[in-house]
Amino acid sequence: MPDAPSPLSDLPGTDRPFYVHPSVLPADFSRLGEAIISLEKAGVDRIHWDIMDGHFVPNITFGPDVIASCRPLVSLPFETHLMIENPEWTIPMWIGAGCDRLIVHAESCVHLHRVLSHVRDEGASAAVTINPSTPIEAIENILDLVDSVLILTINPGWGGQRFLPSMEPKIAKLRRLILERGLDIDIEVDGGVGPDTVTDAVRCGANALVAGSALFRDERGLEHAVTELRTLAEQARTT
Ligand code: DX5
Ligand code: ZN
Repeated sequence: MPDAPSPLSDLPGTDRPFYVHPSVLPADFSRLGEAIISLEKAGVDRIHWDIMDGHFVPNITFGPDVIASCRPLVSLPFETHLMIENPEWTIPMWIGAGCDRLIVHAESCVHLHRVLSHVRDEGASAAVTINPSTPIEAIENILDLVDSVLILTINPGWGGQRFLPSMEPKIAKLRRLILERGLDIDIEVDGGVGPDTVTDAVRCGANALVAGSALFRDERGLEHAVTELRTLAEQARTT
């Protein structure tokens, strides 16, 4: 609802930069390298690799060797969204493949604090993500360990789903908590993010936008899609 006031209107504004993190899930996997290069040319900030193991989610996607083969093609940072069981087993593999940020699902490990600490001890940026049904309270005790929190605005496993507006209060609650604690944390939204949904997501406090379908399906090309998303995000903060 574009005319609804921001749920954070009682708080000081945030000037955190906006980031566009394309998911390569919709890309043509037979030409993945070309897609990565095109995304860099289109002006994105980081590549979002959706890692799926067929257990945490039914789908199966990329392994570290695929990421490593794309690493030399661009200078963009890589992040892995780990939709896998036992993420702690593979932390060195993603970092060795050239990822500087690992996004761990709170629901995927019993000892989340230890896994995030391990990511940091290995020299990578730690981030956490939660499914739609998981409350903010599940991660409020580990916010000191992460640089970013990814709020899933769909149920994980596939791209091309509709953004869940019911996640907006959760985004706002997290941004409020981060502001109240004075923490330096980005909020990523992931799932159904596009021109029709970015405004509400930003008004609730998101500043990093994961998008797959909205970028790859734009008939005017990737650069147009990236620029449009960034422009709408900037406008959402000023209106
Ligand atoms: C789904 C992934 C998302 C998804 C986003 O489990 O985590 O990154 O690919 O794709 P779109 O933007 O198409 O919803
Ligand atoms: Zn993702």
